[in-house]
Formats: sequence, structure tokens, C-alpha cells
Amino acid sequence: MRVTAPVTRVRTQTGDLAWLVSGYEEARQAFADPRLGRSAPDPERAARISNSVLLGGPRGDVATEKAEHERMRRILAPAFSARRMNALRPHVQELVDELLDRMAERTPPVDLRETLSLPLPVLVICELLGVPYDDREYFRKLADAMGDLGDPVRAGAALAELGEYARRIVDGKRGAPAADVFSDLATMDASEEEISTLAAGLLFAGHETTVNRIDYGVLLLLRNPAQRDALIADPGLADSTVEEILRMAAPGHHGLPRYAHEDVTIGGVAIERGEAVLISTAVANRDERAFVEPDRFDIGRAPEDPHLSFGYAARYCLGASLARVELRTVFGSLFRRFPTLALAIPFEELREREASLTGGVTRIPITWE
Ligand code: HEM
Repeated sequence: MRVTAPVTRVRTQTGDLAWLVSGYEEARQAFADPRLGRSAPDPERAARISNSVLLGGPRGDVATEKAEHERMRRILAPAFSARRMNALRPHVQELVDELLDRMAERTPPVDLRETLSLPLPVLVICELLGVPYDDREYFRKLADAMGDLGDPVRAGAALAELGEYARRIVDGKRGAPAADVFSDLATMDASEEEISTLAAGLLFAGHETTVNRIDYGVLLLLRNPAQRDALIADPGLADSTVEEILRMAAPGHHGLPRYAHEDVTIGGVAIERGEAVLISTAVANRDERAFVEPDRFDIGRAPEDPHLSFGYAARYCLGASLARVELRTVFGSLFRRFPTLALAIPFEELREREASLTGGVTRIPITWE
């Protein structure tokens, strides 16, 4: 469909009509067009994409979206800048080394998710935001429930509870501010509701996606042993390996929603005010017009065009530098430390996390010699 109709009408999971954007250039055009937003001009009547409480429909208000979004970026961007995140590198390396030390002490098989993919991003985001690591089980469960596509009532309740949890922590910072992002939010001149939504959003976005990128990356390397060996031989390939993992394993199958605030033309296709647009970065990342042999996993790739896994333009992922620091550290260390790392069960027995917004697999039993 991407080849024949990179912008095309589809029926969404909820039975509504939307425009699916699957071509690389068309996706960039859609991301960059200010007339496409996350809010819809007539939210009550807007097409829905799915049951997801996060991405299933319009969010926010057309009249205030742009100003609120710019304010959010202004407040949060400095805390997540590439410079700040690169300064964090040595610390992230220490955390990875510690987790790998602990893994080495255990008798395989162990679950990769439990030993590395989950604890690392959770540790890092807790420190950055100033959220107690001891609460991790609690907010992990809420984050999991929020991504449930099968049960919107459960997901909605989890979203509200995570917001309330985040609000309590931010409140606590008012009396005892520290050098963390939730303390910055505590001093922000905004409504309680806006602050708690932002804080909960960071807590969710700050780990859920990164966890799955570690998992998929390990699986891609295990399934492509020549690429894994090349990475072990030359750790300098860690950066391009991470970009290739991000390209091939773009988050989920859901797509990113937008709504036309005015009539607009994308890829030569006329889209009317109010209509829903769904941008599929996973499919755009495999566009042969942008990537040579797009279905091949190749860690030596030096593409002219970047993948779209962090989005593009105004809403480009705020945590991209942080995610990159974590992923580069993991893939620069894991296979050097455990060169014989292998799956402890047949690949076919891995189970996808069904009906989950961020995708991923349930567990990854691994072993080594
Ligand atoms: C590999 C990991 C990650 C991936 C693949 C990813 C992906 C994305 C994508 C595709 C978007 C754009 C959404 C859109 O255009 O509608 C986005 C936005 C965002 N991401 Fe990430 N993300 C990752 C990690 C993180 C981390 C670690 C944080 C932590 C702070 C984060 C925070 C955000 C925020 C706050 C936004 C909203 C930006 C805006 O609307 O301006 N992300 N992310």
C-alpha cells in the first residue's frame, strides 16, 4: 500500500475513517504541517483511531494546543537537551555495568526484561524526574494498564491514577525542591491538572518505549549473528546499531494520530478539516525511496535520511537524546560482556504483548556460556 498509495483512506480499529500516511516523504510532510494537530476542531464527532486512552482519539483543544505545546517544550527541553543527556553517559554506563554484573552472578536462563531492559530505563527516569525508585512496581503496573488497548476503562483508571501519583510527588517537591525535573514542574506557573498530566506523561513516555527497544534490539542482533559479531569486534558501531534498531523496530503498530485543523494536501491527497490522519512511522521507516534494501537489518548503514521512530518536526521526541544514551550504552556493552548470549527458548515461542500500545514481548529468556 505504501508503494501504490502512501496516503490512503482506511477504516480504523473502531470502524471510523482516517487517512493512513505510510510513505517516508509523506510522513515527514504530515509531521511538519502545522495545520495537522493532536486536537480536533470538533472532538465529539472526530474519528477515533482505537480504544487507546493515549493515542485513540483527539487530545487537547484547537484554540490552545499550539500555545500549550510550545510552553511544554520550553519548560522541559532544557532538562532533556543532548548536552545534559551526554553528560549523563558515565552514570548510565555505571548503571549498565552494575546490572550486567548482577546478571553475570546469576545462573542462566534469566529473563532479559527483568534483568536489564526494564530496570535500566526505570532507574534512569526515576533519577531524572526525582521519582522514588521504590515505587517502580506500582507505577510500572499503571503504565502497563495505560497501554491496554483491550480495556479502555482499566486504561482510563490507570491514566487517572498515574496523574494523581505524579501530582502528589510534584506537590512534595514544593517543600523540598531538588535538582530534578519534577522540582522544575513544581515551580511552573500552570494549573495542577496541566502539571500532573505533564508529569505522568513523562513518567510513562520515559521508560515504556525504551524498554521495548532494548528487547527488540537484542532479538534483532541474536537473529543476525554476523551483525552481532561485527558489533562485538567494533564497539564504535554501537551508535549506528542503535539507529538501525530504532529504524527497524519503530514502536507498536498503532501509528501517530493527527487531525486536520484546516483543509490540507499531503502527498497530493486532499484532506478535509476535521479528518483524522494516522502516521505510520514503522511502515515509513521501510520505504525503499529512503532506505536501500529497507527490510535488511544492517548496522553499518549510514542513511542520508534519518528514521522517523522519534517522530519529526515540532513534536519530535523530547526524550530522544536520553533514549539514545541508554540504548548506545546497552548495545556498546551487552554483547562484549556476554558474547555467547543466546535465546534460551526457540524464537517461535516468544510471545508478543497482545493489545498493548507499545508492543514488545512478554519475556525474553536468555542464556550464555
Ligand atoms: C526509544 C525510545 C523512544 C521512542 C521510540 C519514542 C518515540 C516518540 C515519538 C514517535 C514521539 C512523537 C509523537 C508524535 O509525533 O505524536 C515522541 C514524543 C515524545 N516523547 Fe518519546 N520516545 C522514546 C523515549 C522517550 C523518553 C525516554 C522520553 C522521556 C522524557 C520521551 C518523552 C517524549 C515526550 C514528552 C514526547 C512529546 C513531545 C511533543 O509532543 O512535543 N520519549 N516519542
